[in-house]
Amino acid sequence: ELPRTFVLIKPDAVRRGLVGEVLSRFERKGLTIVALKQVQVTPELADEHYAEHVERDFYPPLRTFITSGPSVAVVLAGDEVVEAVRLLNGATDGRKAAPGTIRGDLSLSNRENLVHGSDSAESAAREIALWFPELEG
Ligand code: CMP
Repeated sequence: ELPRTFVLIKPDAVRRGLVGEVLSRFERKGLTIVALKQVQVTPELADEHYAEHVERDFYPPLRTFITSGPSVAVVLAGDEVVEAVRLLNGATDGRKAAPGTIRGDLSLSNRENLVHGSDSAESAAREIALWFPELEG
């Protein structure tokens, strides 16, 4: 009954050993981990997840990056969780994200920005169904 959101901890975070750091920030905020798994993202899954971006100039290198190594897919629950996660993640571009946020503290890139969080309740429902078909609604 608490709202849920989808988070992808991206390959840069896994390579840099920051999975625990990122999860820890969500846990310390008081959010609940509902599901979690390591995933090697395929180009097909990347295209589905980023369907709204596939025609953008930045998409080909984004697809190369997101499939470049394992990621960790997470479903989080909590009060106003979609907004809470977006605030914790910070602005998309790590160079401009506020200090205190995951990206602001730990990323200097617009692409390798460590985490993805659903941008709305509708996106969260779509992304959770895509990444965790085994989870019941
Ligand atoms: P994410 O929240 O996963 O949603 C889309 C992703 O595309 C974004 O995080 C970044 O990783 C990437 N992205 C968005 N805009 C740009 C850009 N201008 N240049 C490179 N990558 C981008």
